Amino acid sequence: MSEAVTRPGITADALLASLDPLLRAWLPRQRWFAGKGRPITEFSVVTATELLPPTSESGLLHLIVQVRQPQVPGQAGGAPPQPADCYQLLLGVRRELPPRLAPALIGHVTRGPLSGFTVYEALHDSRMSGFLLEALRTQARVGKLRFERDRRRDIGADLAPRVLAAEQSNSSLVYGDTYILKLFRRIVPGSNPDLELPLVLSRDGCAQVPPPAAWFLADTGDDVSVLGVLQPYLKGTVDGWELALGELAAGRDFSGEARALGRATAEVHRALARALPTVTLGRAQVELIADGMADRLTTAAGAVPALQPYAPALHTTYEALADLGRGEETWTAQRIHGDLHLGQCLRSPAGEWSLIDFEGEPSRPLAERRMPQPPVRDVAGMLRSFDYAARSHELWAPEWAGDCRAAYCAGYAEVAGRDPRMDPVLLRAYETDKAVYEVLYEARHRPDWLPVPLAAIKRLATNGPATEPH
Ligand SMILES: Nc1ncnc2c1ncn2[C@@H]1O[C@H](COP(=O)(O)OP(=O)(O)O)[C@@H](O)[C@H]1O
Ligand SMILES: [Mg+2]
Repeated sequence: MSEAVTRPGITADALLASLDPLLRAWLPRQRWFAGKGRPITEFSVVTATELLPPTSESGLLHLIVQVRQPQVPGQAGGAPPQPADCYQLLLGVRRELPPRLAPALIGHVTRGPLSGFTVYEALHDSRMSGFLLEALRTQARVGKLRFERDRRRDIGADLAPRVLAAEQSNSSLVYGDTYILKLFRRIVPGSNPDLELPLVLSRDGCAQVPPPAAWFLADTGDDVSVLGVLQPYLKGTVDGWELALGELAAGRDFSGEARALGRATAEVHRALARALPTVTLGRAQVELIADGMADRLTTAAGAVPALQPYAPALHTTYEALADLGRGEETWTAQRIHGDLHLGQCLRSPAGEWSLIDFEGEPSRPLAERRMPQPPVRDVAGMLRSFDYAARSHELWAPEWAGDCRAAYCAGYAEVAGRDPRMDPVLLRAYETDKAVYEVLYEARHRPDWLPVPLAAIKRLATNGPATEPH
């Protein structure tokens, strides 16, 4: 897949000879690097673009690199080989790194065409991040990179950039507290729901989702990959997770906020159902959904022994769902958020909620993330999030979580016209599926947090209704 770089004379392979040793050490240390704990066996360049050719002073290099790694332990035998992950990198290139950029250092190049240069993470260099905004504003085309914008929205020039400090899985730049540019790190060819859905929603006039003002793409082979999206920066907002923890710590009720959040979720769902195709789920589709959930449970129980005692009871939840599908009832599936939790919701000082980050669950394949699904899946995600918040507080606050869950469903019903609790089997199945996902995630990445989803698993495996406190 190697492509020639846009500057004549340097091939992608030669460039990689310069960068390979540095990236091997630097990439695995990045928060957004998905393949932690496994060695990198091979690098290749998908696209390489000199946004600013290295002069005697500085340069800006845009790269999409493909990283090959061995299989995840336990998935090797018989499983299909994992596709290689692609990452977007913005590398600054300078002869001398000024002290203010020292924390952004990636390394000093000792071989290949960049020999003698210092390479660093360009997002921390305002000259480089300013260049990106200008490229978006002017709809630049450089090599395989295409910068586009919604011409109805003004984008000011010379807005001071800063790197967002948030813990996130991508990287974001804030420009003058006016715009935020999210740069996707792990790149998947094809339509990215984090651009697709906010664009559709902005055309529909949906007030709960910040409208994309500009975006940029790479032509990667037969497909196009979305690399970044610029949208209004919602100044003064607090994310729902932080807000909820603050209220918990102060011993305050959060059900008013939860209700408003339920309303906002339903507004977004209504707009998505208006703007994009919906499908009716009949017997075959419901069985397929139940089978998928059962498979994920089997995989998770295989990897996390603590889940095993509960697996038989949890399977009965999925069987109940499949049984329901065999009856008369049908459900509507539509495009949804796909990874809804308190951290994906921002509340303005005026008390209005916005939903962000429509990428979906990053570990799932793109085609699956873009499929219509029952909106109750988002509701289940948010219910799990209240549970997480309540349990992360030093004193487990079951009533607090129960009140939030009930208020959220009630708020949702006010706009949607139907309360998610009226589909208890469906809601319980999605909540169980989410808790199973969390168990696997925590066991792999944050073992200290494992008791949080395990407590929910225990509840869901006994007879507690999904929306009541225990
Ligand atoms: N439009 C916005 N206005 C203000 N802050 C935002 C906006 N979009 C994102 N953020 C901040 O950036 C963080 C990460 O954004 P998000 O889209 O969730 O990225 P990621 O995919 O990396 O999780 C959010 O938690 C929030 O703090
Ligand atoms: Mg996010």
